[in-house]
Amino acid sequence: MVLPMNTIPSTLGPHVACIMDGNGRWAKRRGLPRTEGHTAGEENLAEVVRIAASRGVAHLTVFGFSTENWVRPKAEVRHILSLHKRLFGRIEELNANNVRINWIGRPFDEPGARTPAFVQRAIRQAIADTASNTGMVLTVAFDYGSRAELLRAAQLIIAESNGDAIISPATMQSHLYSPELPDVDVLIRTSGESRISNFLLWQIANAKIYFTERSWPDLGATEIDAALALINK
Ligand code: IPE
Ligand code: IPE
Ligand code: MG
Repeated sequence: MVLPMNTIPSTLGPHVACIMDGNGRWAKRRGLPRTEGHTAGEENLAEVVRIAASRGVAHLTVFGFSTENWVRPKAEVRHILSLHKRLFGRIEELNANNVRINWIGRPFDEPGARTPAFVQRAIRQAIADTASNTGMVLTVAFDYGSRAELLRAAQLIIAESNGDAIISPATMQSHLYSPELPDVDVLIRTSGESRISNFLLWQIANAKIYFTERSWPDLGATEIDAALALINK
């Protein structure tokens, strides 16, 4: 399976990455089931996309679902999957904001990949339906883990060689899931956790990091502006 090739435009604005954490705790504080927190989180992502686009962010990369998250209760996983279908289905809004969709994660046809067919279809459709937009690129990490990405890059370099593999920063970069993605300028993690959780380990080498106590469903312009302000400090 080959995804449409994304020609990511020259990046004028910054690359912001988000570990969208705290949906469960947000719901618990309100006496709601965890699934309601994920629903609120997906809605807030739409808001964060609008804010980031309005601030001239060139790339917004968000952690939607990790290779480690499959162990969660089945009903919760099902709910999160359906929310990704909803997210990738927001074509009108994405087009209205000139946002192009991109995806990183374990390639659908490779061993170990777990993205179900209905989410695969939603991802392919969203990429195709937003391909001509020229503004911000929204990359959704789904079935994504950075160690898997890096190990695969090294393995591909070796497999493509005749025993003379060159493992260098340039060859590693060109074998990442989305080689065109620039380095991250600032990484935001919500909900008071100060962990990286296997997200974009290669791409955050020189990133600023903004940890906030706010849960993902409550993240707004104030925190985004504070994170952006870190970039040139
Ligand atoms: C983030 O919120 C969403 C995903 C990891 C899919 P959590 O579900 O991790 O929320 P908490 O951390 O339990 O509050
Ligand atoms: C990280 O959040 C993954 C996503 C946001 C998709 P988790 O809530 O799964 O992270 P840990 O396990 O607490 O580090
Ligand atoms: Mg969490």
